[in-house]
Amino acid sequence: MVVDIRDLKAGYGTKAVVSLASLQIETGEHTLLLGPSGCGKTTLLNVLSGIASTLAGRVVINGTALETLSVGDRDRFRGKHIGLVMQRLHLISALTISKNLRLAQQLAGVSVNDGIILGALEKLGLAAMLDRYPRELSQGEAQRVAIARAVINRPALILADEPTSALDDANCLAAIDLLFDQATAYGATLIVATHDQRIKARFERVVTLEPYL
Ligand SMILES: Nc1ncnc2c1ncn2[C@@H]1O[C@H](COP(=O)(O)OP(=O)(O)OP(=O)(O)O)[C@@H](O)[C@H]1O
Ligand SMILES: [Mg+2]
Repeated sequence: MVVDIRDLKAGYGTKAVVSLASLQIETGEHTLLLGPSGCGKTTLLNVLSGIASTLAGRVVINGTALETLSVGDRDRFRGKHIGLVMQRLHLISALTISKNLRLAQQLAGVSVNDGIILGALEKLGLAAMLDRYPRELSQGEAQRVAIARAVINRPALILADEPTSALDDANCLAAIDLLFDQATAYGATLIVATHDQRIKARFERVVTLEPYL
């Protein structure tokens, strides 16, 4: 089991915006988190990645209970076990593509390995982009680099927040295909949060979040 949530309440300050009695996701069970704007999808992804702390309950990722980790250990845990694809890509503009990916390895505390970086970029048709800066890439290329960065440390879990809502139909399907391909190639479980109904059919499991009042 890659995700095991019990009696979770999470939110901001003392106000809970997500309440989940139970959510279990098996390894390889790619899951779509669906729900209206404001229902707490991003908040839940932030809980899963240990960016947001919980108000109550237990969150176990790949056998590790996040509440047992210090903030620093949670950051290292995220770097090693979780690949994040955020809606805004957060590539560092002053660093080339290869240096952005080296940084992802350094932040996870794994040794820098240029062979792994090149291999990930090759799989995504981006090997020629190694020495370019993010501004020298098209939007679609930059999104593929963000996916490469998410898989570079062979995460158990890939979390993607609205990876398709800004894309037209063709690019939407291409982006989802790519996330599935990469999850399969790296043996990772994919969790995608969206309100984009177009990608619903691709997922065997759909979890609908209700707004928590
Ligand atoms: N940093 C914050 N501080 C306080 N409240 C917040 C914060 N971020 C989000 N919220 C509130 O928490 C609730 C859930 O927000 P969240 O971003 O998780 O929703 P979402 O389902 O991802 O929405 P969307 O589909 O628009 O991205 C919303 O009511 C929002 O206003
Ligand atoms: Mg959101």
